[in-house]
Amino acid sequence: MSVPLRFDGKVVLVTGAGGGLGREYALAFGERGASVVVNDLGGDIKGGGKSSAAADKVVEEIRAKGGKAIANYDSVEDGEKVIQTALDEFGKIDIVVNNAGILRDRSFARTSDVDWDLIHRVHLRGSFMVTRAAWSHMKNQKFGRIIMTSSAAGIYGNFGQANYSAAKLGLLGLANTLAIEGQKYNILCNTIAPTAGSRLTETVMPPDLLESLKAEYVTPLVLWLCHDQCHENSGLFEVGAGWIGKLRWERSQGRSLRTKNQNISPEAVRDHWDSICDFTDATKPANIQESLQTLVEVLSKVDSHGGVGVNPTASLATSAAASGINPMEAVGQKLSDSTFTYSHIQCILYALGVGMSTNDPDHLGFLYEGHEDFSCLPTFGVIPSMSAMMDGGLSSVPGLNIDFTQVLHGEQYLEVYKPLPTSGTLTSQATIADVLDKGSGALILMDVNTYSGGELLCYNQWSVFVVGAGGFGGKRTSEKAKALVPPPNRAPDAVVTDSTTRDQAALYRLSGDFNPLHIDPGFAAMGGFKAPILHGLCSFGFAARHVLKQYANNDPSRFKAIKVRFVKPVLPGQSLQTEMWKEGNRIHIQCKVKETDAVVLSGAYVDLHGTPEASPEDLTQAGALQSELVFAEIGRRIKDSGSELVKKVNTVFGWEIMKDGKTVAQWTIDLKSGTGALHKGPYSGQVDVTFTVSDGDFMEVVQGAINPQKAFIAGKLKIRGNIMKAQKLDIILKDFAKL
Ligand code: NAI
Repeated sequence: MSVPLRFDGKVVLVTGAGGGLGREYALAFGERGASVVVNDLGGDIKGGGKSSAAADKVVEEIRAKGGKAIANYDSVEDGEKVIQTALDEFGKIDIVVNNAGILRDRSFARTSDVDWDLIHRVHLRGSFMVTRAAWSHMKNQKFGRIIMTSSAAGIYGNFGQANYSAAKLGLLGLANTLAIEGQKYNILCNTIAPTAGSRLTETVMPPDLLESLKAEYVTPLVLWLCHDQCHENSGLFEVGAGWIGKLRWERSQGRSLRTKNQNISPEAVRDHWDSICDFTDATKPANIQESLQTLVEVLSKVDSHGGVGVNPTASLATSAAASGINPMEAVGQKLSDSTFTYSHIQCILYALGVGMSTNDPDHLGFLYEGHEDFSCLPTFGVIPSMSAMMDGGLSSVPGLNIDFTQVLHGEQYLEVYKPLPTSGTLTSQATIADVLDKGSGALILMDVNTYSGGELLCYNQWSVFVVGAGGFGGKRTSEKAKALVPPPNRAPDAVVTDSTTRDQAALYRLSGDFNPLHIDPGFAAMGGFKAPILHGLCSFGFAARHVLKQYANNDPSRFKAIKVRFVKPVLPGQSLQTEMWKEGNRIHIQCKVKETDAVVLSGAYVDLHGTPEASPEDLTQAGALQSELVFAEIGRRIKDSGSELVKKVNTVFGWEIMKDGKTVAQWTIDLKSGTGALHKGPYSGQVDVTFTVSDGDFMEVVQGAINPQKAFIAGKLKIRGNIMKAQKLDIILKDFAKL
C-alpha cells in the first residue's frame, strides 16, 4: 500500500473554512496531522453579517477527532491578523488555502459599484492580503504551498458574473507571478477551479446534482498540491465530481503580416483572419519567455528576409525545396562534435605543408620539437575544425541537400584565443551560422569553435560556396559573415615572395585534406584544371606566416586573427607573393602568383596583438571585470563605424554588470544620436532597453557560448524597457572578438 500523505508538523490556514469546500479541506488537513487555522468571517453569501459560529464549529469537529485547530474570525481583508493567529498559536505558517468567497451575481448592466468592489475585495484583495502576510515567513523557512481558488466562471465567463469572473481570473494572474517569484524559496503556488455543491451553488444547481458534486471530491487535489512531495507550480486545475483536469494556454501558429520597414494594415489582418485563428499545429507557450520567443523569431525573420506578407516559413521553404536548400531548416543546426588528437608530428607536418623550411633558421622553432621555443603555427587552428566538415558532417545537415562535387571553399576566418598547444585532444563544435542565396550558388557559413579541455582555443568561420545551388529565394548577405577588407590605396609596405614546391599539395594534404583534386591529375581534369591545384588553406598558411615573420617576429602569441577570400587556384611549384600593408595592428594582405601576377587571396588581413596584453583572467584576478575589455572594443567599433551603427541600430542600450549579486559597472551604448557613443557610469539620457547580467554571463553571451535569447530564457540576462529593441543586440555583439 502506498504511504499516506501526512501533514504532521505543518501549519495550514484555510480561509472561509466555516462551511462548504473550506470546511472539507480543514477537516482533511486536521485528520492528517496538520495544525489548522480555521478562518471564517461567518457572514452571508453576499458578504453581509458576521459570526464566529461557523469557524468554531469546524474547530470543534477537528479537535473532536484528535486534531489541532484554532479559529480566526477576521475577514481575509485583514490578512495580517489572520496570519498572526497561526503564528501566535502554532509559531509558523506553511500552507495557505485561499478559499473564502462570496457571490453578488447581477447582469453586467445592473452591476453596482458595491457589487464590483465587494467581490474584488473578498476574492482578489483578500487572497493578496493573506498571502502577502504569509510570504516572508515562507521565504525565510524556504517552504510554502499556496492555493488560489478561481472558477470556471472566470476561465470561460458566465452570464451574470462579470464581477466574480474578473476577480476569479485575476487570482490566476496573481498565482502565475507568485509561482515565478516563489520558486527559488520552495514556495509553490497553484490554482484550482472547483465545482461542488455548497451554499454558493445551491441557487444555480438542481438538488440532486448538488448532492452528487460533493465538496469532499475536491479535497484530495488540494491536499496533494499542498504536500511537500508535490512540486507542481503555476498549475491550473478544474476539479469536481471526482475528476481532475489540468488546463494550459494554447496558441495558434499565427501569421506574420509585417514586411520590412512597413506597418501592417487592418485589411491584411482581415485577409489572413482564418490562418491567424487556425489552431492546426498549435503551440502551448508555458511561460512569458516562450511567448516572447515567437516575437523575437518573427522580428529576426522580417529583418533577415526583408519581410513576408505570407507565411515566411512556407514561402522560403517552398522555393528552397526545389534547389535542395532550406535555410529555415539548416541555419542553427549543429553538427556532431568532432575530436582531433595530435602530437608534435602534426604540428611539424603542417609547418612543412605551408612551406616552412630549415633553410630559414627562424623556422626551426616550428620544425624541431627539441627547440627551446618549439610552437605550433597559429593557422594550424584550421586543421582540427576541418574534421567537423569532413566525415560527411556537412552532408548530414537537414536543409542542406547539396551536390558535393560543386562545393568550393570561398573564404576563411580564423581567430586564435590562446597559442595552440603542440599536442593534445581538441573538440570542435560546428554550427551552420547562415545560408545565403548568391544567385549562381549558395553560400554556407559554418562557425566552428575548437576547445581544449573546455577552454575555447580558436574559432573558424568557413564560407563554402555551392555552385548552382542558388535561387532558393534566400537573403544575399549576412551579418554573421566575417567581412573582407580591401587593402589601403597605396603601394604595399612590405612584400615577401616564397616558392611552393612541386610536392607542396602532396605534403599539405597529409594535414587532413585528402581531396583528390590536390593530387590526382585525372580528378583535377574532371574539375576543369590542367593539373592538381594547391589547397587554398595552404596559400593561406603561407600568407599568414609571411605576416608573422614580417611584423611579429615569428611569435605565435602575437597572432590574433586572419581573414581571406580564395580567388584563384595556385599550382604547386608556383611562387607566392604576399603584399602587406600595416595599419596599426591590422596587416592587410593580398597574395599573388608571381609568375602570372594573378591575385589568389584578396580582401585579406591578419590582426596581431600589439604588445602582450593582460588576459581576461589576469584582469579578473586583479579585481577588474572581463566585460571592460568588451566595452572598450565596442567603443572602438562605434568610432570606426562612422554613423553606420547608428543607422542600423537606432537604440540606446543600458547595461548593468553584476558581480557577487552587486551592480559593479554601468554602461550606456548610445547608438541613437550623432555617430554614437559609449558612456561609463550612470546615464542621464533616455535608455530604450536595459540589460542586467553578471560579468561572467556577459562574457558567455559575447563569446557566443550562449545566445542572448537563451540567456534571457535562462534568466541570466534580464531585460527592462523596450524588449523588441533587445533584438538589435546581435548587431553590436556580432563578429565579436572572443576576448
Ligand atoms: P461557501 O459559501 O460555502 O464558503 C465560502 C466561505 O467563505 C463561507 O463560509 C464564508 O463565510 C466565507 N467568507 C466569505 N467572505 C469572507 C471573508 N471576507 N473573510 C473570511 N471568510 C469569508 O462557498 P464554497 O462553494 O465552499 O466556495 C469556496 C470557494 O470556492 C469560493 O472562493 C468560491 O468562489 C469558490 N468556487 C466554488 C464553486 C462551487 O461550485 N462551489 C465554483 C467555483 C468557485
